[in-house]
Amino acid sequence: MKKLDMLYEGKAKKVFLTEDSDVLIVDYKDDATAFNGLKKGSIENKGVVNNRMSNLLFKMLEKGGIETHLIEEISDRETLVKKVSIVPLEVIVRNVAAGSFSKRFGVEEGTLLASPTLEFCYKNDNLGDPMINEYQILALDLATKEELEQISEMTFKINDMLVAFFKEIGIKLIDFKIEFGRYHDRIILADEISPDTCRLWDANTNEKLDKDRFRRDLGNVEGAYEEVFKRLGL
Ligand code: TMP
Ligand code: ASP
Repeated sequence: MKKLDMLYEGKAKKVFLTEDSDVLIVDYKDDATAFNGLKKGSIENKGVVNNRMSNLLFKMLEKGGIETHLIEEISDRETLVKKVSIVPLEVIVRNVAAGSFSKRFGVEEGTLLASPTLEFCYKNDNLGDPMINEYQILALDLATKEELEQISEMTFKINDMLVAFFKEIGIKLIDFKIEFGRYHDRIILADEISPDTCRLWDANTNEKLDKDRFRRDLGNVEGAYEEVFKRLGL
């Protein structure tokens, strides 16, 4: 399918139109940002890792009954996806305390949570993606009650599948962020699942194998992405 005009350029991806109005091409960049774009950098080969890893995970989730935007990987950095209208929510699941959860509630990073948690943030760069609750989502008409119920149900299913999948390759899924889109009459999983959007710790050593290495200047950022890529058999 031919790549036409660029529709949108985000912090980590470019999105292009195609001849089919229902299909887009996502092109993953090596650019990395943190703290709402305040910290900027680049992680060599990140675009390849995130593209191929997201596609592998989306295929696994599809087999488990989760519809995703994935159509077909067309190169190391590019994928054909279904054109969705993104629900403006960052949906965050946590299995183990870390990051903003640890800070907000004073819980040491690495503490296993009694049960997985679900959080929503309002996707709005000007506001810095503030946390938002279900009543506020309904009040602002960001999603309907039915959509929210569907998103929550899908998200916990996705968490179960991802936790089991990463366990097989010696990785603990600490937390992650996903996004959903409206496609015709239904809600499907969109965006990406990658070391940019997950906290992934080595199961034995707790070594961080994700974007926290960039956010926190821990060094060996590229090595961490490569390690996850290798363990996935990619
Ligand atoms: P947090 O602890 O900073 O709230 O992050 C929770 C999870 O969400 C973590 O896996 C990283 C991911 N995340 C994103 O994908 N994008 C973001 O902009 C932020 C802040 C976090
Ligand atoms: N989405 C955040 C930003 O751009 C990055 C992050 O912390 O993952 O700046």
